[in-house]
Amino acid sequence: MKTNFNLKKYNTFSIDCFCDNFLEIKKEQDFFDFIKTKPKKILFLGNGSNILFTKDFSGTVIYSNIKKIKEIKKTKTNIYLKVSSGYNWDDFVKYCIQHNYYGPENLSNIPGKIGGSVVQNIGAYGAEIKDIIHSVEYVSLQDNKIYTIPNKECQFSYRSSIFKTKLKNCFVLNVIFKLSLKEKYILEYRDLHNLENIDLKKIRKYILKLRKSKLPNYKEIGNAGSFFKNPIISKTLFNKLKKQFMDIPYFQINDKYKIPTAWLLDKAGFKKKKYKKCGVYVKTPSIIVNLDNAQGKEIYDFSQAIIKTVKQKFNITLEREVIII
Ligand code: EPU
Repeated sequence: MKTNFNLKKYNTFSIDCFCDNFLEIKKEQDFFDFIKTKPKKILFLGNGSNILFTKDFSGTVIYSNIKKIKEIKKTKTNIYLKVSSGYNWDDFVKYCIQHNYYGPENLSNIPGKIGGSVVQNIGAYGAEIKDIIHSVEYVSLQDNKIYTIPNKECQFSYRSSIFKTKLKNCFVLNVIFKLSLKEKYILEYRDLHNLENIDLKKIRKYILKLRKSKLPNYKEIGNAGSFFKNPIISKTLFNKLKKQFMDIPYFQINDKYKIPTAWLLDKAGFKKKKYKKCGVYVKTPSIIVNLDNAQGKEIYDFSQAIIKTVKQKFNITLEREVIII
């Protein structure tokens, strides 16, 4: 256990901040030994790619670094893999592609570890992690026991799961994935279906190129991906906005409409906007970037100003995707 630990390298916003204690979990027993000490305040951290520290954390940060992957079952059509929470998400995607396991390829290159990816139900290019999860193994801090919860009880929804709500204080230990051994692709997003002679490697290559053209690399410029969720609005509000902004892009979900935050911010005048030492990413305004050693509080204040303006202009309340500490 390390004390008074700097988290700058452990959050992709690259915010200079400290925690009282920092514990790296390399094997399951490390975690069980620690919880016996009945810690008061803890924070589970994976890659730190969806978090904004606005102040120091007065407690223990648990950094999951267990990296195991195990085949637990194989049928004619599917393979079941048990993967520990500290395994890097994109290493898992690469592993699946190498072995011709179908399912996670559209989620290539999303920063994060397995644990955080599940909590957050990561999604991109027509796919969501929930579609390949069989079950999740977690430790409850109420009785320090291991439980397994099946997919349908995980309450997965857009960028959310039960691990963000009811099971917020639980430690995700392992995720059991169910992947297809049969050729199967998700090609609904934009021009993905126009790819010729398709295979898993080709999809990955296409997605890496797409991401590179739109998203900043956190190793070069601090960020946590989309800062806000894309809001889902009612038909009434949508019809009203459509009259005012004929070019409003949308994605219809039953009788609701999902609107890209990037467009709202662009229309509200935030394109290329800077605020103190942070700003919006030049190509994609829905991503807030740390331009020059910004403080977490500055980024937070900027996001508040964005929320306020968007509310005034469109009567839409943006919700942060990033977790605020
Ligand atoms: N746009 C503008 N002005 C701009 C840039 C974009 O108006 O300057 C509009 C365009 O209409 C464009 C849209 O915004 O079509 C952006 O849509 P796009 O599908 O490219 O991505 P997104 O809605 O910004 C979501 C996810 C991403 C995911 C992509 C691809 C959320 C909050 N974000 O972004 O996820 O990679 O779709 O599926 O749902 C993340 O969660 O961190 C993340 C990056």
